[in-house]
Amino acid sequence: MANILIVDDEQSYRQLLTLVFEEQGNKVRTAMNGRQALEAIAAEPADIIISDVKMPDMDGISLLKAVRETQPDLGVVLMTAFASVETAREAFKLGADDFIQKPFDVEELKLIVQKTLEKQALIDENRAFKRAQRERGSVKNIVGSSAKMQAIFQMIETVAEVQSTVLVTGESGTGKELVARAIHDLSPRAEKPFISINCGAFTETLLESELFGYIKGSFTGANTNRKGLFEAAHGGTIFLDEIGEMSPGMQVKLLRVLQERRVRPVGAHDEIPVDARVIAATNRDLKQMSEEGTFREDLFYRISVIPIDLPPLRDRPEDIAALTDHFVRKYCEQAGKELTISPKASEILEKYAWHGNVRELEHTIERAVALERSSEIQPEQLPSHITNYNPERINAEFDLPENGIDLGTHLENLEKRYVVEALRKTSGSQTKAADLLQMPVRSLRHLLDKHNIRSLSAQMRSGD
Ligand SMILES: Nc1ncnc2c1ncn2[C@@H]1O[C@H](COP(=O)(O)OP(=O)(O)OP(=O)(O)O)[C@@H](O)[C@H]1O
Ligand SMILES: [Mg+2]
Repeated sequence: MANILIVDDEQSYRQLLTLVFEEQGNKVRTAMNGRQALEAIAAEPADIIISDVKMPDMDGISLLKAVRETQPDLGVVLMTAFASVETAREAFKLGADDFIQKPFDVEELKLIVQKTLEKQALIDENRAFKRAQRERGSVKNIVGSSAKMQAIFQMIETVAEVQSTVLVTGESGTGKELVARAIHDLSPRAEKPFISINCGAFTETLLESELFGYIKGSFTGANTNRKGLFEAAHGGTIFLDEIGEMSPGMQVKLLRVLQERRVRPVGAHDEIPVDARVIAATNRDLKQMSEEGTFREDLFYRISVIPIDLPPLRDRPEDIAALTDHFVRKYCEQAGKELTISPKASEILEKYAWHGNVRELEHTIERAVALERSSEIQPEQLPSHITNYNPERINAEFDLPENGIDLGTHLENLEKRYVVEALRKTSGSQTKAADLLQMPVRSLRHLLDKHNIRSLSAQMRSGD
């Protein structure tokens, strides 16, 4: 049983076809022209449209074009009394499923409709299959059995269902982009584009024209109109990576887009409605930046409706073994090798602190797989800073020279070194550095003042 829409300006045809298809047990609706037909399918989706070509107020060809823009797989059969080779050819080029010349034998049309519906069912089945495959693939790509990662998986599944803006935070290499993709792939927007842009890689003017598009002649070099990425991501997801790098001017413009759900291409008078889900990511501390006035507070609240904070790899060492296996398999497959990891190398990897997180581990394995000549990855194929890494090293500082030390100054220096090191490891984030040193942010700020290194955290954030 199918939902059929008959479109014809002649009443006799509408009546005849209604009778024929209702008799088969289908649900049949009718429309007198293309415009009415579009309204009808907007109100309730159809499985197939059987449409006349010549009609006043939007003909069958224009209807077909309009339908194909939004529903590439909806069955469309055209019928016309003025069948010329050209119209037929154009109809097929525009994606009509079939074409029949009036007057026709009703049995022939029934057959065409049946075939089109069967094709439809196959396409649907295929799409459902592919979707299921991708969903499994996408989340399967994210490895992690630690409780922390299990909580992240749960979060991904939950937020995939809703439309809210998501802010993914975490140190460099923790998998922010991977998570953004997984959210998209699990969402109802999965069939539509996922578009990723690194906001830190463009100047303000370039970023604006990338995101919002531009009109021909709006600046030197704008030789044609160009769609922006927001428009290109219509129906899908736009991933704004490194959002903390966005200039203040761009921040205002983005805030407007998120509030109004419209963009204005550079040089255009009118705005275009956009329907793209926004996922943003940063390895910077936006909350702190907004307190310091380098990131708009209103934008921060707007994008962090749902925050997902990815834990650094050193906080979930139980994931290291599974990730290692995952990458060994991945790079062996690419290189056509068959390797396992030796217990010794494995142990070294599990002890290391991975400040470059999963990305650093991935690169380490890629390199080791390329270098290894035996059937097992040996510690020799790991970089020396990893094999020599010694978490107990801190205690080595603890020896008292023969002629004694100035303990006060020594402790002050040690304190300063730990603060600097903590800021370095957290790319200048005071909140995270304070966490690392297990103290409140207020105390950390006090230390920054005491050692006269307040400007250091800002410098480290800007990568100086
Ligand atoms: N849990 C994970 N399972 C498998 N692969 C992962 C995981 N996390 C990260 N990766 C891999 O590590 C690499 C870095 O991940 P990704 O690019 O998503 O990090 P990021 O957080 O966006 O980093 P940056 O802030 O530097 O852009 C990618 O190749 C990604 O596939
Ligand atoms: Mg990234």
